Amino acid sequence: MNQFLHDVIKGLSAPKKYLESKYFYDATGDELFRQIMACDDYYLTNCEMEIFTSQTAELAACFTNRLPEFDVVELGAGDATKSVHLLKELVDNNVPFTYYPVDISTDVISLLHRELPKQLPGLNIQGLNGEYFNMLTKAKTLSDRIKVVLFLGSNIGNIPLEDATHFCRQLRDNLLPGDLMLIGFDLQKDPQIILNAYNDREGYTRRFNSNLLERINRELSGNFDVSQFLHYPTYDPGTGACKSYLVSLQDQQAEVADHSFNFHKYEPIFMEVSQKYTVAQIEDLVVLSGFKTIHQFFDSKSWFVDAVWECV
Ligand code: AVJ
Repeated sequence: MNQFLHDVIKGLSAPKKYLESKYFYDATGDELFRQIMACDDYYLTNCEMEIFTSQTAELAACFTNRLPEFDVVELGAGDATKSVHLLKELVDNNVPFTYYPVDISTDVISLLHRELPKQLPGLNIQGLNGEYFNMLTKAKTLSDRIKVVLFLGSNIGNIPLEDATHFCRQLRDNLLPGDLMLIGFDLQKDPQIILNAYNDREGYTRRFNSNLLERINRELSGNFDVSQFLHYPTYDPGTGACKSYLVSLQDQQAEVADHSFNFHKYEPIFMEVSQKYTVAQIEDLVVLSGFKTIHQFFDSKSWFVDAVWECV
């Protein structure tokens, strides 16, 4: 059975139904996510972009001061609009490096191979299509240079807080002493601002979530009536967890392949968590997972931080 079908059936058979957010990113989902990143309500991209454009030299210096040459592995590269500023700085300074963008989406990888060399002549790029740890292992077999791993955009937010230490430990276990990480965290802030980012007024986020049901219909012979599910994002300032749900608007049934699922009126499908951090929580995470903080880059509003960690 294919993995997507397997995971969908598992999630929709659970007592509390859920779908895995990594499946948002088919070609339609990639496009919707680009629209989310470009919209005003989704402040995360603007904040991190400000860091990458206004502190480019300082960012690059964190790596070049320590390492004469290295490889850059970007986990969940997307369209690389932020990292491209850092990559340009490295290319302009003749730093010897290969860029290994890792992404779950095949479309993303082929797009990067087409577009990036036009923007950055002389860039060595080798895209890796697959899941983070598999592709990190792959990158290590392709070159034995020291690694600088980029994990931007608050992608770590998709991991529940209670699992984040284990995840960072796993990252650490896949790296060597001296390897560096550049990791982006969205910080706790005015709860309304956070909620608006996951309920943008253009409706991109709503469509981004609904697209996963449509993807199930397209790829797994599903028959979800997408209009009968409500996009419902929540933010709990007590835990920093921003969670989104699709709530069934009626008693209904949906088929996926040869499986049938019942939904009660107002039954939720848990779609995604986007964890928001405090600086103190990030510091705990660093220590518990075997890194040390080299530097923290904040945007001017201190809504977002890109931290540079070294493996100890
Ligand atoms: C790509 C995981 C960083 O959680 O903010 C955007 C995905 N979901 N809007 C996030 C997302 C809804 C995004 N990350």
